[in-house]
Amino acid sequence: MKRIRVGVVGLRRGLGFARGAGSALGMELVAVCDQESSRLETVESELGVATYTDYDKFLEHDLDAVILANYFHEHAPFAIKALSAGKHVMSETAACFTLAEGVALVRQVEKSGKIYMFAENYPYMVFNQEMRRLYKAGEIGEFVYGEGEYVHSMSANDLNAISPGVHHWRNWIPATYYCTHSLAPIMFITETWPVSVTGFVIARSEDDPVWGLTARVNDAASVIILRMDNGAVVKLLQVGLRGDGVWVRLHGTRGQMENLRHGDTRMVRLRREQYHEEDREPRDQIYLPEFPEHHEEATRAGHGGGDFFMNYHFAQAIRTGKQPFLDVYRGVAMSIVGPLAYRSALAGSATLEVPDFRREGPRRKYAKDDWNPDPTRRREGDPWPSVRGEVKPSKKGLEYAREIWRRMGYEGD
Ligand SMILES: NC(=O)c1ccc[n+]([C@@H]2O[C@H](COP(=O)([O-])OP(=O)(O)OC[C@H]3O[C@@H](n4cnc5c(N)ncnc54)[C@H](O)[C@@H]3O)[C@@H](O)[C@H]2O)c1
Repeated sequence: MKRIRVGVVGLRRGLGFARGAGSALGMELVAVCDQESSRLETVESELGVATYTDYDKFLEHDLDAVILANYFHEHAPFAIKALSAGKHVMSETAACFTLAEGVALVRQVEKSGKIYMFAENYPYMVFNQEMRRLYKAGEIGEFVYGEGEYVHSMSANDLNAISPGVHHWRNWIPATYYCTHSLAPIMFITETWPVSVTGFVIARSEDDPVWGLTARVNDAASVIILRMDNGAVVKLLQVGLRGDGVWVRLHGTRGQMENLRHGDTRMVRLRREQYHEEDREPRDQIYLPEFPEHHEEATRAGHGGGDFFMNYHFAQAIRTGKQPFLDVYRGVAMSIVGPLAYRSALAGSATLEVPDFRREGPRRKYAKDDWNPDPTRRREGDPWPSVRGEVKPSKKGLEYAREIWRRMGYEGD
């Protein structure tokens, strides 16, 4: 098996990829990059590979593939640079931050001929892989309605610890942007694509004791309604509400399935509701599925096994020369739902089209659309990160957050 020399950028989330890029997959970690040298020093002896603080220098290293786990809103330009340098790319969520970046990214993948994989790990959790198998076997008939939820509540201490710095993306990213964990499983199970989007944003409440202890200037959560290309309707709920959990529910013309909300949430409930047809038993089934392949390795990996399958499918794609299921088109399609839903929410929840960047017409239409809410590069006409307009962190929140950042050794503002 020809080994694949891999480099990882961003050593927070990226450390998981670095540690998982093992010889069992034919991957060899050869370099890592993080702009914070203290992060490199911490892992240098463990990983025993070349370290870089500068991305351009890192790309000069003898690498076949780059795994991007840098900041959420900076993946597309990093991916384009790596593809231009002749590297295969696996990119963390989101694939792109603006629609223009989405167009540029699909064009660059096509031009380079390299593998691009979108590292959406949630579809590969065991219950989602099982639901894909059930759907393909026709167990619930044709998909007509679905719900995806990614609700991640945290203490102020944890929120501040993962968002070091006033301008860290987690402190300002609008509430619709982190939508791929809730959407990707539905696209994976049903192989449908979003065609229109309607966004609703839930602003933070002054009554929430967590938010006032953070430097956040964005909103708490969002609901996104999508029309899919087969006519199905999807509801997504994401991010900062109480009621932590990851959940997927699908209704079909012959049945319904979901993962459990209570107890062991990896368990699947399948309901066969067959009328006017031969009845199949059992009508209601609740069970803990196994991964269809590599059960042992996946069970040991992070994010309910999803993390194992990222490196696995990336390596497979490079080896076979065939783009993975989570290719650039799907990655961009699910990522642009975030900005489009925010645009919709700011326009009184008007319904907007989700352009299909597999086609040249929509690419031309959105190639210059760099509308974005990044407060560090704000121009006239750009949106604020909150539907409430310009929001400043409270004095108390900022002081509390800075104390946590100071304790973890963060030296910036
Ligand atoms: N799929 C998942 O389950 C999952 C889980 C956590 C995070 N993520 C994603 O991973 C990405 C990173 O998030 P995170 O939690 O690791 O926190 P983060 O965004 O704070 O970490 C990014 C890391 O990249 C480094 N970095 C940023 N710009 C750089 C540059 N120009 N050169 C070199 N290094 C640079 C930073 O120093 C930092 O260590 C985000 O896109 C996030 O959405 C995904």
